Amino acid sequence: MKLADRMSHIGTESAFEVLARARALEKQGKSIIHLQIGEPDFPTPAHVVEAGQKALAEGWTKYGPTPGFPEFRDAIARYISRTRGISVGPDNVCVVPGGKPIMYFAMTALLNPGDEVIYPDPSFPIYESLIHFLGARACPVPLVESRGFSFDLDVLAGSLSPRTKLVILNSPANPTGGVIPHDDLKKIADLLRDRDLMILSDEIYSRIYYEEKPESITQFPGMVEKTIILDGFSKTYSMTGWRLGYGVMPKWMADAVNLMAVNATSCTASFSQRAGLAALEGPQDDVDKMVAEFKKRRNVIVQALNTIPGFRCSLPAGAFYAFPNITGTKKSSKEMEELLLNEAGVACLSGTAFGKHGDGFLRFSYANSLENIKEAINRIRKVADRWA
Ligand SMILES: Cc1ncc(COP(=O)(O)O)c(C=O)c1O
Repeated sequence: MKLADRMSHIGTESAFEVLARARALEKQGKSIIHLQIGEPDFPTPAHVVEAGQKALAEGWTKYGPTPGFPEFRDAIARYISRTRGISVGPDNVCVVPGGKPIMYFAMTALLNPGDEVIYPDPSFPIYESLIHFLGARACPVPLVESRGFSFDLDVLAGSLSPRTKLVILNSPANPTGGVIPHDDLKKIADLLRDRDLMILSDEIYSRIYYEEKPESITQFPGMVEKTIILDGFSKTYSMTGWRLGYGVMPKWMADAVNLMAVNATSCTASFSQRAGLAALEGPQDDVDKMVAEFKKRRNVIVQALNTIPGFRCSLPAGAFYAFPNITGTKKSSKEMEELLLNEAGVACLSGTAFGKHGDGFLRFSYANSLENIKEAINRIRKVADRWA
């Protein structure tokens, strides 16, 4: 029996493969420091856990409405309106199990074979995976290290064609930590405004930033009408395992996403939504504390990576990833990922896990303690004679 042909086009997320290899080494007794996974190492805030427990005890254990509970969608609409400076209502909100289903549902609902999709390279590997899976045409646009990993806007403009159906933006970004600056975002809005296309604006790291507050393309005139905002609770509230995310989009698009959701998931876990409501409406101190701790770690890891021979690391403005350029080591990213895992006991990801323009870079997640980060750097320094 053979799988369907479309399965030969789908990709994966190699963070999970590296985790499996790291776990195998740990089973053999090796010590590994995990800097490969994109998951905050903080607990879900206590009042959010309590709200989830209370919801379970109260019987929020059944199916709910496919788009999400009205009270929750209302709270999300108010939150997005307030934080993005726009005006959206509950009919624009689709609650789904995590941020990923918004990519899957929206792209499946929008893309015909042959439609072109513009997306950043390097970027979250699931964008490209889904583009290929759906038979659409992948049009990666390289991110430019010297521009804080923003686009070269002329290259972006040159990539647009009458077949461009979707443009994917991600700010703050995985894997680079880059934030698209105001002026670039405005120019991108000007480029896209009069075109018959949609934008998928992945804003899952919107609350994790260290300099200027990241902006959403939706704030520019005419953009709310053509944008799907993806956001959720995984990163901001350290709720990866609760599977809770949402999209905010024009009503006609929300109807299509809800139709996909009826077919795929029926609804999002009811008690998770109650916990999410508490997260959005309750105290935000835990988010502030987490971001302050990430900022300390960012400063330490970036400074330390810059002392490794052949490494050059710019200061990321958001998310929790450092993305050093390692071309000075003369090793490929993949070789370096292997070498650091097997010989230094440090798990990180090759930049090529995020696209071909990630070659020459590594991604280190600093969702790990300062102590472990410092130990990881010591371990890397000890094996640096292999390339220095
Ligand atoms: C850029 C980006 N978007 C979306 C997601 C998916 O988040 P979730 O776990 O909520 O599906 C991730 C997770 O790593 C991410 O890095």
